[in-house]
Amino acid sequence: SDYFSKSKDFAGKKVLITMGPTQEAIDPVRFISNHSSGKMGMAIVKAFLARGAEVYAVSGPTKLTFPKEVNTTQVKSAQEMFEACQTIHAQMDICVFAAAVADYKPAEVAPQKIKKSSSKLELTLTKNVDIALTLGKAKSAHQIHVGFALETENESRFAKQKLTKKNFDLIVLNSLRDEGAGFQIDTNKVSIIHASGLSSESELLPKSQIAELILDEIKNVPVWI
Ligand code: CTP
Ligand code: CA
Repeated sequence: SDYFSKSKDFAGKKVLITMGPTQEAIDPVRFISNHSSGKMGMAIVKAFLARGAEVYAVSGPTKLTFPKEVNTTQVKSAQEMFEACQTIHAQMDICVFAAAVADYKPAEVAPQKIKKSSSKLELTLTKNVDIALTLGKAKSAHQIHVGFALETENESRFAKQKLTKKNFDLIVLNSLRDEGAGFQIDTNKVSIIHASGLSSESELLPKSQIAELILDEIKNVPVWI
């Protein structure tokens, strides 16, 4: 039936999803991170599972419970996330980069808890590995890469720049302007922009339905077979 073919339309596809925040250690008891809940990534994980894909999740620390059918690798830092992705990337058909990777990490991790002393503490941060950019350079002709972007100005121009730079086939632009969209919330509103330039804007929808829209758009990528 139509229902069956729609429900298993990703059968035989191996899919990598990065998700959640990363944590970058300052010392043994402290880290730099962000407010990502991993909920959008988890919605994508569940959508792919339901539609028959073999799902590999590489996740930063979240409160979420992973379905047992998912090959889950839990990581903390961007570097660990990168290494876990690098190991399996070549075998993947589709990669969705939904993680909120910390852009910077402390240049040095203090071996002991930093003691409170002077009135000011300066931390030097260095740039983290860009997972999507690095794997985008290794992307082969049959692979599909999907990115996310969160912008507060010149949204669609910046999103298109990211799509080109990171070799994405499509990019999902999160709207921060709308109440009910964003990090800790169960709904979202997005624009989905293809490398071809074609784009569409969603309504404010539950993240589960946003995930279904993203999967539908993946099937519109020219390399989809
Ligand atoms: N990304 C990644 N590794 C990083 C940073 C980002 O894989 N170190 C991925 C994200 O998962 C997302 C896309 O790249 O799919 C865009 O992330 P974003 O933070 O919006 O872009 P940046 O390139 O980090 O640029 P900026 O934060 O300065 O806007
Ligand atoms: Ca960033």
